[in-house]
Amino acid sequence: MKTVIKNISKLIQTDNTQKKFVSGNDMSKIETIDNAFIEINQGIISDYGDMLEWKGIDDWNNINIIDAEGGMVFPTYCDSHTHLVFAKSREEEFISRIKGLSYQEIADNGGGILNSAIKLQNQDEDTLYKEALIRLNDLAKLGTGAIEIKSGYGLTIESELKILQVIKRLKENSEITIKSTFLGAHAVPKEFKKNKKDYLKIIINEMLPIIAKNNLADFIDIFCEVGYFSVEDLQDLLIAAKSYNITAKTHVNQFNSLGGIKKSVDLGALSVDHLEVMNNEDILALKNSKCMPTILPSCSFFLSIPYSPVRKMISEGLPIALASDFNPGSSPSGNMNFVSSLGCIKLKMTPEEVINATTINSAYAMGVEKELGTISIGKKANLFITKHIPSYSYLAYNFGESVINKVIINGKVI
Ligand code: NIG
Ligand code: FE
Repeated sequence: MKTVIKNISKLIQTDNTQKKFVSGNDMSKIETIDNAFIEINQGIISDYGDMLEWKGIDDWNNINIIDAEGGMVFPTYCDSHTHLVFAKSREEEFISRIKGLSYQEIADNGGGILNSAIKLQNQDEDTLYKEALIRLNDLAKLGTGAIEIKSGYGLTIESELKILQVIKRLKENSEITIKSTFLGAHAVPKEFKKNKKDYLKIIINEMLPIIAKNNLADFIDIFCEVGYFSVEDLQDLLIAAKSYNITAKTHVNQFNSLGGIKKSVDLGALSVDHLEVMNNEDILALKNSKCMPTILPSCSFFLSIPYSPVRKMISEGLPIALASDFNPGSSPSGNMNFVSSLGCIKLKMTPEEVINATTINSAYAMGVEKELGTISIGKKANLFITKHIPSYSYLAYNFGESVINKVIINGKVI
């Protein structure tokens, strides 16, 4: 059965060049088509273009027509950095921060990631799965059509496997494209505070082999930061993961620039994420690399920490991806519409740059740029149709609201 979407006032982010990502000045360019149609066959985009050039179809009995009613059509967001599977919210820490404690002070007092880990260790797999599926479906309605999900709230073999098993079940049962990331090196458990290297050994020698053998992770990740893991730890972990053919995406430069960016780039990381604190060497390390700088503005917003120097990075020719960092501690929102607004308002990106950063560039940052991220023949029909909006810039302008009318995943309205 074919599906045709008609009456599209503007089709956003079309591409017939099979681009992998866009960088520097090219980030401010997007292709659009006015008064357009899209044809979908078996969940895949089979044609698109100007409505006046539509060839029509042979078999009118075997077609499903979706009327966009003059709305615009975008490729769905690719959210390339989330911690979607967690046991409980952490609003008590939110209140402590309102009263003046910092994110780091809360973590030092037993809150933060270790707080989430205790809660998750005491939660059964089925409950984790059901709650994560609800979150995932809520995000799909907000326009997210692909998502990367990390472990990292387990911090024991048993609990890390539990999260990765939940992510596997989400992959099997959801139409959304999902990638999983093993983040056992998210924080050092209390019992290893004095011998952190022993915990890293468990990650490398015990967790990683089981996870690799059972195909539970598409990527590996580590939180490289003062009080968490060092650049040397990052190097040891990424080299070990390489021997299993697992590529890295790393948490680096959230509070300190330690050299984790250069090390990640040198070891072939697909993305480096956070980057609130950047110096010239960090930018230099990323130039002409294949590693995607991924910015998480909801985390800066929620924690009131500095925003990444995105204008400088783009002017130096770098690409930028934007993601939500959805997690209970530093970004309890996975709303990519809000991420888009923060991109414009706080990072001073143009709406075109934000569209590239939340679609093709974030698709690249999670390894799905061949199947998602642009409106192209042969790519998955993961799209959203907007209400009547005066321009595509309205999406980010209209912050805190969703202009999305319908979401289509694999060619089907959800
Ligand atoms: O990406 N920075 C490290 N990890 C998460 C936050 C985790 C938490 O606070 O629970 C992040 O912001
Ligand atoms: Fe994160």
